[in-house]
Amino acid sequence: MNVYDSEQIEKILAPLGYKIASSFEVADLIIVNTCAIREKAEQKVFSFLGRLAGLKRRKPDLIIGVGGCVAQQEGDKIMERMPHVDLVFGTHAILRLPYLIERIESERCSLVDVEMSEIIEEFGSVIELPLDRSDPKVTSFVTIMRGCDNFCTYCVVPYVRGRETSRFPESIVSEVRGLVKTGVREVTLLGQNVNSYGKKENLNSFPQLLARVNEIDGLFRIRFTTSHSKDLSDDLISAFKDLDKLCNHIHLPVQSGSNRILKRMNRKYNRELYLEKIDKLRNNCPDIAISSDIIVGFPGETRADFEETLNLIKQVEFDSLFAFKYSDRPNAPAARFADKITEQEKKDRLQTLLNLQEYFTARKNRVLVGSNELVLVEGLSKKKVDNDDAQSKYQCVQWTGRTETNKVVNFIQSEAAIPRDRILKGKIVNVKIEKAYLHSLLGKPALKGEQSYAA
Ligand code: 5AD
Ligand code: SF4
Repeated sequence: MNVYDSEQIEKILAPLGYKIASSFEVADLIIVNTCAIREKAEQKVFSFLGRLAGLKRRKPDLIIGVGGCVAQQEGDKIMERMPHVDLVFGTHAILRLPYLIERIESERCSLVDVEMSEIIEEFGSVIELPLDRSDPKVTSFVTIMRGCDNFCTYCVVPYVRGRETSRFPESIVSEVRGLVKTGVREVTLLGQNVNSYGKKENLNSFPQLLARVNEIDGLFRIRFTTSHSKDLSDDLISAFKDLDKLCNHIHLPVQSGSNRILKRMNRKYNRELYLEKIDKLRNNCPDIAISSDIIVGFPGETRADFEETLNLIKQVEFDSLFAFKYSDRPNAPAARFADKITEQEKKDRLQTLLNLQEYFTARKNRVLVGSNELVLVEGLSKKKVDNDDAQSKYQCVQWTGRTETNKVVNFIQSEAAIPRDRILKGKIVNVKIEKAYLHSLLGKPALKGEQSYAA
């Protein structure tokens, strides 16, 4: 979501003459877009801001702005801790940025704007025009709603992003069309709980929105995140079968495998319901990839609760997992819960969990060796390619992309196979998988005859 917001900031400041600088040293304006989801993210913000103090001393005209969730949460306290900061703007203030920056430019004042607006039109009118970039991207995020009304007890989002608000479907479709014109082939629709998209405002349902995006010519793939397990609907499950562009991957955060902890987290589903949804997804779409988020060491999590989480991981066999040590967040009710778990215990539990998941991730990747996968190429891989074949007079290049199931595939291409000017970026290539690693797969374009380019 912050990646998307940063792009909005870039777009909205362009008319003021600002464009991306090549380094901090030459910048006239530095905007730090912050995340408050876990304690570590917030600590990073302050250490980064601290490092900017010297630069500001050397360049007093430099404007430093802090936006995003930490800005929303801390407001003017940021200025007290970091007096070299000129502007603090909250999650709802992006559209007011030009006005704020212009005032700072002319008055050399410092400003704080953490006002929360509930006006849908304001949010709906986020600048739909695509970014003017010399090297346009193949994939893009598109925020379809902001805020959250769920109030999970560990989570800061409802306090820093405000109430759930959905964008108009027309605005989303028009933004995606614009992105496709710049070369984007895959969009990830973003919301804290996409299942409730449009409900409050009586707009299209989320599956209806997906169907509209699916119609857009030139778009190859659609992903979305995040779906809340409590209200993953049958319609959305069917969409995986019905919509040809919707990738067969779902990120479905479970957070814990223990019903007692799920209740304390206020997740409003239990383990049984979660497993039922997984069964439905797999019955509907047998090769769907499933990833999830898990928090270890939530206050009061006993060894037995943790074992239930491990057990759920074994039962589901996720394709990948994002696991986090619980950390207290300001305003989130769990910060006031008793029975906090020690840092060492959280660390140990996290390691145990990651080791277990590693086994499943590696196994799922290994199974793909020898198979052909359709890969949407995102660009050249940064990795240097060793040419194993010493006899070969051709240089190799390595491309990188993803399968529909969201697995990273790097593939080596000898220039014998493809002329130098053949640009694969943005194309779907049939790749024969030859090696599996933990975080990626390695392959070669399928042999002639097998090879297919979708575009
Ligand atoms: N501590 C640890 N992890 C958290 N997450 C959200 N809040 C916290 C917290 N206080 C995790 C959840 C969520 C992901 C984005 O971050 O797993 O799904
Ligand atoms: Fe946070 Fe829960 Fe909302 Fe997700 S659903 S953003 S975890 S409050």
